[in-house]
Amino acid sequence: MNNALPETAITHDSDFVIFGGSGDLSLRKIFPALFWRFLNGQITENFRLISCMRKVITTEEFGNNFRPFCENAFESGIANDQKWESFLKLIQILELDILNDIGGDKLYDTLKSDLAKERPCIFYLAVAPKLFGASCVLLQKNNLVLPQSRVVVEKPFGHDKASALALNNEILDVFDEGQIYRIDHYLGKETVQNLMALRFANVIFESQWNNHYIDHVQITAAETVGVEQRASYYDSYGALRDMVQNHLLQLLCLVAMEPPSHFDADQVRNEKLRVLQALRPLKDGEVQIGQYDNYIRDLNRKSDTETFVAMKINIDNWRWAGVPFYIRTGKKLGLHASEIVITFKNRPHDIFAKNNDPNVEDFPNRLVIRVQPQEGLKLHLTAKKPGPGGMRLFPSELNLSFSEAFAERLPDAYERLLMDIARGNQTLFMRSDEVLAAWEYIDPIIAKLRQNNPQIYSSNSLGPEDEILKREGRQWFNPSLDEDT
Ligand code: BG6
Repeated sequence: MNNALPETAITHDSDFVIFGGSGDLSLRKIFPALFWRFLNGQITENFRLISCMRKVITTEEFGNNFRPFCENAFESGIANDQKWESFLKLIQILELDILNDIGGDKLYDTLKSDLAKERPCIFYLAVAPKLFGASCVLLQKNNLVLPQSRVVVEKPFGHDKASALALNNEILDVFDEGQIYRIDHYLGKETVQNLMALRFANVIFESQWNNHYIDHVQITAAETVGVEQRASYYDSYGALRDMVQNHLLQLLCLVAMEPPSHFDADQVRNEKLRVLQALRPLKDGEVQIGQYDNYIRDLNRKSDTETFVAMKINIDNWRWAGVPFYIRTGKKLGLHASEIVITFKNRPHDIFAKNNDPNVEDFPNRLVIRVQPQEGLKLHLTAKKPGPGGMRLFPSELNLSFSEAFAERLPDAYERLLMDIARGNQTLFMRSDEVLAAWEYIDPIIAKLRQNNPQIYSSNSLGPEDEILKREGRQWFNPSLDEDT
């Protein structure tokens, strides 16, 4: 891999304040992402990184806690001990106990001089959602909610529409919508943004991007991992809430949305919202749920929570009428891949099929958008086999691998999202109406599903035997798996 660092946009000097600084999200994702941005030069010594926690530790101890998640930077040769020490100098550890209202005044004193300079002040609430409201109140009480303040929250945004609304209201009591950054980390992934470039910076696909040319769309987010240490959180959510309500519906929106008139936050989010509002309620037989065989053992109690979902989604608008979107996600599968497969319709008239050549087959054109791993695009075309012997057709591929084509390390989704927050760009963040519309679609499905038991599937398989696509004479297409075997 070529480790040359990518070009980056200038980012204003900012203060990042992480609530829940000693937690998993902070150690695994936020601080490693900030470190990479520091190595890249986007975070300079003028930034301040304030990690708030209940039990204060030294900066050095804190660094040791997240350094294991930065090892790739050292292995690549870009990081070294000197750079690590310089990065640690930007970090301050502060005591903060949100529920007992301890530490807000100290936080204000620490930030006071910067607040006067009106530079962005970012409060990342890397804490349980039940603490979002109290965190916002604490910030308000200590005069930390100013026009330049921004607040960042992670999913889960509630477990249904009513709880999401309540959570939103708690935050909106203190911050304006324009100051709230709701992270769906899938939107920060390189290929997900490339999907927008593919559609809206090229004419060749957009002209075919409708029910005249597209037969169906498949969206897969398959994981080999199980629920591991998150079993008790996961069990109260399940795959529909954990993955479909947010990540998969967001991917579907980006595939299906109309071109916005400008690439700006509200235009993009308006178009995604229209897709969510056009989703047809699911009918019986259009959703299948499963649970991996060892789930009960991992959880240590009986449960009907789904670890796998497959669904057929219809979008009721002119562009997509009659084009099914099949989505699936699951844990402990024999496949680690997130990909979108667009299958185009067959040739309207076949000039080759009549020549009695048994080698002539139908290979539909497919566009495979690989979100991860090995980010890239593949276009499946039909070509002629070289040499004499008749018009023998065979499937061939145009392959665009992002990492090879751009010879760069692809930044983690969090790196991009954190810098977008510092720049005040909300395009890749979920607006409250999107979150609520997604719940409005998912809530009735969950209510219905709770009446069924999930089908048990073997770990390392592709989930329960498909019933949805088969009924329609189709099958799941597994490009990553087909290539790995
Ligand atoms: C999270 C889910 O949002 O996304 C996890 O809560 C899931 O259950 C994860 O494993 C998948 O993210 P990624 O980036 O590894 O595909």
